Amino acid sequence: MLRIGSIDLKTQKIDTLIVPVCEDKKIHDDRLINGVIKKALKLKEFKAEKGDRVTLYDFKDLATERIICVGLGKFKKIDHEVLRTFCGAIVNRCIQAGFEKIWVAVPAAEKLKMEMPDAVEAMMEGACLGNHVFDKYKKEKKKKPLKQINFRVKPEASGKLRKIPPKVSTICAGTILAREWISTPSNEKTPEHFTRSIVSKARKHGLKTRVLREKDLKQNKFGALLAVAAGSQSKPSMVVLEHKPAGAKKTLALVGKGVTFDSGGLNIKTGDSMAAMKSDMSGAAVVAATMITLARLKTKSHVIGAIPIVENMPSGKATRPGDIVRSYAGKTIEIGNTDAEGRLILIDAMSYVVKKHKPQIMIDLATLTGACVVALGEKIAGVFTPDDDLAEAIIASGNKTHERCWQMPMPDDYKELLKSDFADLNNMPSSRWGGAITAALFLSEFSGDTRWAHIDIAGPAYFKKGGAYCGPGGTGFGVRLLCDLIEQL
Ligand code: BES
Ligand code: ZN
Ligand code: ZN
Repeated sequence: MLRIGSIDLKTQKIDTLIVPVCEDKKIHDDRLINGVIKKALKLKEFKAEKGDRVTLYDFKDLATERIICVGLGKFKKIDHEVLRTFCGAIVNRCIQAGFEKIWVAVPAAEKLKMEMPDAVEAMMEGACLGNHVFDKYKKEKKKKPLKQINFRVKPEASGKLRKIPPKVSTICAGTILAREWISTPSNEKTPEHFTRSIVSKARKHGLKTRVLREKDLKQNKFGALLAVAAGSQSKPSMVVLEHKPAGAKKTLALVGKGVTFDSGGLNIKTGDSMAAMKSDMSGAAVVAATMITLARLKTKSHVIGAIPIVENMPSGKATRPGDIVRSYAGKTIEIGNTDAEGRLILIDAMSYVVKKHKPQIMIDLATLTGACVVALGEKIAGVFTPDDDLAEAIIASGNKTHERCWQMPMPDDYKELLKSDFADLNNMPSSRWGGAITAALFLSEFSGDTRWAHIDIAGPAYFKKGGAYCGPGGTGFGVRLLCDLIEQL
């Protein structure tokens, strides 16, 4: 669906050409395209400000039916994210217009002051992600994704860029897979359903899979995980995926929170705060989709994906506030609040991974706390780790992929807040302030000697309203970041 080509606009008949235009600098070096831009800029309604758009027809010296000029804004502000956003937004418009095929005129890299492959990659990402339509539950499928998005480059550049379209397609397919899992409603995504869906997709792409079912979890004393699952009619599981290429030296582990619905349990949530809780398995979706993507990309590293899956419901069998449970690692936990369930399933998964797989690095992703959303808003994730080098690597990959992360502190003295009068720890901190930090400190008690980082994605995992290259619903935040990070580590 994504393609690179170098057509002659004079002779080759095409329907739609998209031309990005900068407000205050020439960024194309094609004479014909610059001619069209000159014409567009003469129009009162087009100043090439960010988001400006004008369609031109009837060209004497071009075989193109229509050219849509799109403003990128000021040169100083153009970065990879501006390119991603421009492509996502225009693909959206073209879907709405009912187009099937478009060509995008790629600006000259020298003029953009960017590396050509990076610029093309960003544009392709925006286009590919923006071309996703989630209409599984609609009777009328009004919006059809574009069949072909072509990027026009100079003939001498196309060879070097050959590998980009398949790579971008594979990684974006991972993001889209995570998005669809997250947007799936919880009635069609019980722990049993979700487990099956992950395993069947993972096997199809050649990952080694192992599922610990309720019986195994009981036998192996996953007490914290089982306490969360107790109130649900659905049975919990833990899925372990493994990508093990020959010759890999280091082992990396990813752990993802998989709460298919978080009602809060007996400490039940109120209306508004429960509404989007089908997305409380975003960490799990992102880890599973990343594992599948790594397998498809034939990544060189050995990676384990551990995914604890439960539903958090109130019932006569549900765990009560005040109950004390014994975690897989042996530490006892007083359940101060059944809505702080994410940390309970994560610590059992983390302890299991550390014990069985002894990874050099372990990273967990979780929609863990509302407090993290208060701190950083809906577009930035919190990174918590005692390892500043690991934080730096995560943040760098986040900046590159625009899945932005911000390092948060892990002050030792805040551990006070997790003390229990009766057990080793309380899952509910004694202060409501700094809730994202105390949640991370709780997890840190179970990372052992492993280099570990926790990414709280409660904000960016789910959009109520869509953006330029992501519709409303699951965002798949983390897949692109992790794919980049694993290549770097
Ligand atoms: N799943 C929620 C966190 C959440 C909130 C995710 C908003 C996405 C958007 C988590 O299980 C939870 O309920 N956390 C509590 C913890 C508290 C009881 C210590 C919270 O954040 O209020
Ligand atoms: Zn909760
Ligand atoms: Zn939760």
